[in-house]
Amino acid sequence: MAEKFDIAIIGAGPGGFRAAKRCAQKGASVAIIEKEVVGGTCLNCGCIPSKALLASAHILLKAKQAAEMGINITSAVPDWPKIQSRRDEIIISLRKGMTDSMRALGKIKFIQGRAAILSPNKIEVETGSSPVEIQTEKIIIATGSEPIQIPQIPFDGQTVISSKEALTLPEIPKSMIIIGGGVIGCEMACVYAAMGTKITIIEAMPCLLPMEDKWVGRLLEREFKKLGIDILTGQKAASLDKSSSPAKLVLENGRTIESEKILVSVGRKPFIDKETIRSLNLKMSGPAIEINEKMETSIPGVYAIGDVTGKTYLAHGATAQAEAAAANATGGNKTLTDYSLIPRVIYTFPEVASVGKTEETCKAEGIETSVGKAFFRANGRAVAQNETAGEARVIRDNQSNKIVGITIVGATATELITPARMFIGTSEKAVHITFPHPTFSETMEEAIQND
Ligand code: FAD
Ligand code: NAI
Repeated sequence: MAEKFDIAIIGAGPGGFRAAKRCAQKGASVAIIEKEVVGGTCLNCGCIPSKALLASAHILLKAKQAAEMGINITSAVPDWPKIQSRRDEIIISLRKGMTDSMRALGKIKFIQGRAAILSPNKIEVETGSSPVEIQTEKIIIATGSEPIQIPQIPFDGQTVISSKEALTLPEIPKSMIIIGGGVIGCEMACVYAAMGTKITIIEAMPCLLPMEDKWVGRLLEREFKKLGIDILTGQKAASLDKSSSPAKLVLENGRTIESEKILVSVGRKPFIDKETIRSLNLKMSGPAIEINEKMETSIPGVYAIGDVTGKTYLAHGATAQAEAAAANATGGNKTLTDYSLIPRVIYTFPEVASVGKTEETCKAEGIETSVGKAFFRANGRAVAQNETAGEARVIRDNQSNKIVGITIVGATATELITPARMFIGTSEKAVHITFPHPTFSETMEEAIQND
């Protein structure tokens, strides 16, 4: 006998989890099906473990710089097993928190197993024993994404690794080549450079973080060099020789670099079973499930959210989509139209954060802009904190006089971006961001008024 639910959600990552909670709060009976563990990529092998390692790396760097602030620390060295066990403990405790909070709502049934959608109202779950059949009124697909592989340098889990293995290495490697200087590449470079690994980043585009404006990548490059990171931009890897140790990576320009580990971080792609696409005859947009602004797929009653839609590849992007899908699946009417308003946050040293349009996007869209700039080195609090590397830029549309984008590079940029977001779409003359750098507002005001 098939179990019946109002809503079945596939995938218990941030998208699926938030959707399950919201649907249950609206009174729906919910099944959430997960083939691995609660928390998805974000909690188990993404956001949280990477932030745990970055937090340890940050403390280590600060301890090494302590003498500049008048504090003598005789020895600051990483205790890698402790750093790794701390990472594990954080994941386990947050996973328990998620499981308990679903249980507390009372209307969510967690089903462990791989779900295959047979029709818009029928799901089969492989549970290890006999398959379980589920009847449901609506389905929310939240199956996430997987790392993109370079065909000539395939993952082997040992030498050629993805971010998943990079987060759980048993030892600090002596050397690591990182192919792809995007978000994962730059964050992992900071972790391992702080731990003492010799890092070389190979990025195909002319600068790091090519999705942001060029000045961001250049600023980061300057700061990364101070951490001893080698950066080769405008270059691609051609082949890998693993017959000797360390392995030898050959670049397209013929140069050979030796390294113990090769982290490939050249992007992620949506993950969805081919059978599901076929059985539902789902309309796709490349590898992603096509959705409208209500998170509806081409099949009535079937919604998709998170990385599988290819819209943001961000946990808070997935939860923003979950809010809309859950509202609509329970009789509401909620849309999500402008994904650029979901802040982009990168926890590098220094941090990078942006919201709204970039200068490059404005140029491509034919929007004439004025750009106000503020520098961390001119900010009293930043100087006092010994965190002078950084810059903020506010982009204004000349025609409407409205602020359309803000990018901040520097300490706590990922926290400053949330208050900064409030200024997008306003005609404010000055952007006041008072926390946690109280004098930031003055610097920014000057910058804008001068423009
Ligand atoms: P996921 O979290 O991937 O969850 C999908 C779930 O679906 C998985 O648990 C999977 O097992 C399950 N599933 C798939 N198919 C089936 C099936 N057929 N049956 C049952 N279950 C299934 N984002 C941020 O916002 N901030 C960060 O700091 C950040 N750091 C990151 C660091 C790294 C190293 C990585 C890799 C990613 C990071 N991200 C970060 C991105 C973030 O992890 C993802 O955007 C987010 O996890 C997407 O959520 P989701 O719910 O769409 O999918
Ligand atoms: P990415 O898209 O951020 O960066 C990939 C980089 O690889 C790009 O700069 C690209 O130009 C480069 N590249 C592509 N092919 C290449 C090749 N053959 N040789 C050299 N360089 C090549 O993807 P990444 O870093 O894998 O991250 C995936 C997603 O995970 C991101 O889009 C991000 O949204 C998410 N994420 C978010 C984090 C955060 O919010 N703090 C942290 C980590 C990941």
